[in-house]
Amino acid sequence: MIYNNHILLTYNNIYRAVDKCGRMIPVPYNSIVCAAAAGGAREPLFRNPSASASASVYLLQFNCNRRRINTNNRRNNNNNFMDSNNNMRTESYLRHVDSRKLMPNGAGHIPHLKAVILGEALASEEDDLVLPSKEFSDQANVHSPEQYMEMYKRSIEDPDGFWSEIASQFYWKQKWGEKVCDENFDVRDGKIKIEWFKGGITNVCYNCLDRNIEAGLGDKVALYWEGNEPGLDGSLTYSQLLNQVCQVANYLKDIGVKKGDAVIVYLPMINELPITMLACARIGAVHSVVFAGFSAESLAQRITDCKPKAVITCNAVRRGTKPILLKDIVDAAINDSAKDGVSVDVCLVYDNPVALKREDTKWTQGRDIWWQDVIPKYPSTCPVEWVDAEDPLFLLYTSGSTGKPKGVLHTTGGYMVYTATTFKYAFDYKPSDIYWCTADCGWITGHSYVTYGPLLNGATVLVYEGAPNYPDAGRCWDIVDKYKVSIFYTAPTLVRSLMRDGEAVRYLYALMFTVYLCEIDLRINAFGFWIRYVTRYSRKSLRVLGSVGEPINPSAWRWFYNVVGDSRCPISDTWWQTETGGFMITPLPGAWAQKPGSATFPFFGIQPVIVDEKGVEIDGECSGYLCIKKSWPGAFRTLYGDHERYETTYFKPFAGYYFSGDGCRRDKDGYHWLTGRVDDVINVSGHRIGTAEVESALVSHPQCAEAAVVGVEHEVKGQGIYAFVTLVDSVPYSEDLRKDLILTVRKQIGAFAAPDKIHWAPGLPKTRSGKIMRRILRKIAARQLDELGDTSTLADPNVVKQLIELSDS
Ligand code: WTA
Repeated sequence: MIYNNHILLTYNNIYRAVDKCGRMIPVPYNSIVCAAAAGGAREPLFRNPSASASASVYLLQFNCNRRRINTNNRRNNNNNFMDSNNNMRTESYLRHVDSRKLMPNGAGHIPHLKAVILGEALASEEDDLVLPSKEFSDQANVHSPEQYMEMYKRSIEDPDGFWSEIASQFYWKQKWGEKVCDENFDVRDGKIKIEWFKGGITNVCYNCLDRNIEAGLGDKVALYWEGNEPGLDGSLTYSQLLNQVCQVANYLKDIGVKKGDAVIVYLPMINELPITMLACARIGAVHSVVFAGFSAESLAQRITDCKPKAVITCNAVRRGTKPILLKDIVDAAINDSAKDGVSVDVCLVYDNPVALKREDTKWTQGRDIWWQDVIPKYPSTCPVEWVDAEDPLFLLYTSGSTGKPKGVLHTTGGYMVYTATTFKYAFDYKPSDIYWCTADCGWITGHSYVTYGPLLNGATVLVYEGAPNYPDAGRCWDIVDKYKVSIFYTAPTLVRSLMRDGEAVRYLYALMFTVYLCEIDLRINAFGFWIRYVTRYSRKSLRVLGSVGEPINPSAWRWFYNVVGDSRCPISDTWWQTETGGFMITPLPGAWAQKPGSATFPFFGIQPVIVDEKGVEIDGECSGYLCIKKSWPGAFRTLYGDHERYETTYFKPFAGYYFSGDGCRRDKDGYHWLTGRVDDVINVSGHRIGTAEVESALVSHPQCAEAAVVGVEHEVKGQGIYAFVTLVDSVPYSEDLRKDLILTVRKQIGAFAAPDKIHWAPGLPKTRSGKIMRRILRKIAARQLDELGDTSTLADPNVVKQLIELSDS
């Protein structure tokens, strides 16, 4: 039985067991049967199966030795959070609620507070607030709303002073010029320009490695590496990492890579990926990491766009049981880009014998070189190329609303200062932390929060090569225990898939319960232990959890909080984008209460505004388009080779603001709730995919005449890809063709962009001017057929009826 996400299966025997222990047992919902053990009770939970006739199942709220704040909960009247009129009155109340009046953007008094305190109770559906405990706040980098407000206020009123003070903690060969920030954020005033610390001379690699080593961290582990196969692992201290980075940097220089040259990196999650990024940064080269799940065609498109001096890859990798032949993909991509006139002279290949033997790797003499054959021969020291704060650091391609990916360009100084600062505060980073971010370095999260942000702070980072559910759904927690991970940062899609595996366990427990009631002892309890994917691991080391990539739905939030974090760990739900470089709206875990599913308040220096469709700012409680006023150090500076697209996409929709492409609601307390993309971008498992990219892949199939792609709600992935496809005349619908269309998308973009559903469409709903009415398609995809609205303006209203008829074909 489930109540408020908590389960208590109990009948007479159980009551006695609980009484004997003098307390009730908190039971995460995937561990019903073993709850007794978890709570220290020695007696079996189902000791007397024959009592089944009188067995009753009670729904209880766990309350034992855990305090709970709930204005509706009379049982708490004797605790010190409530006065006789059932009003909040304690230090905690004052600390977290009263001071919230100070919060930015219309935050105000919370009239009806239902809350729990970190570490003291499970969060239930009734709770709309999770307050940090005093212990957590006391040790936190930002420990109160007042401290946040003071810092936030300064960051807005005196951004130059605020950021230059932080920037001074890094090494600058030469200090920046007079202006800390120089910007034009308004298209009406001319070209958009963002510059931070211009004239300052520095190097990000130096600040990540040499500076930390000089500060005494040389022997501290910088990178732990955990391979796909359990038992395969490694580690590098800061000094060892620097040596390896220098060897790669020397090699790159030797093959002619110079400051400003692009290098494409197509590597899996092995240490050599951050090593390569840092090596590029050391010599002023611009890395462009391409997620090693992109297809040859996508990779070719990126090679053609940025014309790299070298491509760095690996012969193959195993994720789960599946080997992925990366070198074959790179070969095909280099062939493709050559046809477009861009040739690649050097392809450095890391030999990964676990996935593929050297002799089985296809090879192009003269162009391909084994990493292991050359890199160790180079010296392990390499002078730093000092660069301007506004020199480019990296290019990262991301999806937009056209078929052509955008080369988001980040520069050096502002990005360095911003990623380091956001990392430190949003995760409440302490030098003793072991930090694990499950993102791949092929995405922005892996740039800012696997590589640069943590290493700039001298943190110990875990890099995991494999799939999160390999060999089973407990792997993440196995890794957490093995390395004593204290900060765990992941995506809601992973949380939901692990939660779903927990659900499977729940059904199994229900079955076991029935079996016990039938007096059949199948001794499946031991088996049950193995499939308790989360609770069979201790996870005691966890301190802070993080979420990124898409809105985290409140039920996944609660599961993450209650089950994974044992209701002890705050969750930093960080909203940001490839373009923003670092966190924009994020909890500061010790500072204020969280609301499950809300990214809460802006980070220092960030002024989020919600505007209506005319671009007018809306105050207080509202919904609209999320924009940002004023620049911040980590902002991207342009789209590579296309500044006009940069302005048109981000600065023209609402003049005077950066437009995020996201919808947002602000509640009466000033909390921000991201509601998803409002443009033609879908967010699948936290990966951004442009509908136009998928459509153009589909129509490249000779039998596809037209395609329209929309996002549809998906239980695990957040959003799924739903494609309406019109075939060329007289081609019949067939299962083979459906598979072939999906394969075409996999080949052109990558497996992660494969449509979940192909819906045959004899015609598409279009206006008389030929525009596809996606609104109607979204409703049909979501089966919200009574919400189709007015279809009379369509050029041919009959197509809607046809589409509905073909819905389940
Ligand atoms: C979405 C990933 C809600 C959002 C860092 C944004 C989020 C897009 C969150 C950027 C969050 C990211 N809550 N939505 N905490 N974080 N998003 O560029 O739609 O891959 O615009 O950067 O992800 O995706 P990107």
